[in-house]
Amino acid sequence: MKILVLHGPNLNLLGKREPDKYGTNTLEEINNSLKTLATELNIQIEIFQSNSESELVDKIQQAIDGFDGILINPAAYTHTSIALRDAILAVNKPCVEVHLSNIHSREEFRNKSYLAPVCVGQVSGFGDKSYLLGLQALVGYIKK
Ligand code: DQA
Repeated sequence: MKILVLHGPNLNLLGKREPDKYGTNTLEEINNSLKTLATELNIQIEIFQSNSESELVDKIQQAIDGFDGILINPAAYTHTSIALRDAILAVNKPCVEVHLSNIHSREEFRNKSYLAPVCVGQVSGFGDKSYLLGLQALVGYIKK
């Protein structure tokens, strides 16, 4: 099984970026724990971060061949991007949306996700653990 892990804009600054909301772990540390979990689950992952919506769309499109599912933190594009939603629909792969913070307990504009309705589910509010929970849930969903 092969899963595409996508990180959206500004997540490259994790560790330095608003640590009260997003924690002190860097993206590299989060990616390392995802790689460790992937080894435990006996699956492969490919990880990609971009600040660009178009690069994220291109990457989702590439998941048509060779990937079984997508784990994504779309960051701010969660609340704006019909293009990312359409890309997920186009490739027709199971997708889990994750967020470090609880987007439902923050500003009203963060309460809405354009992607969640086309995802298997959403994990939000558990810090970097949201990624690990999301990966476990996605793999379980694909296996069932
Ligand atoms: C985020 C929540 C988004 O609202 C925000 O724009 C982010 C990070 C999170 O992981 O909590 O960049 O996706």
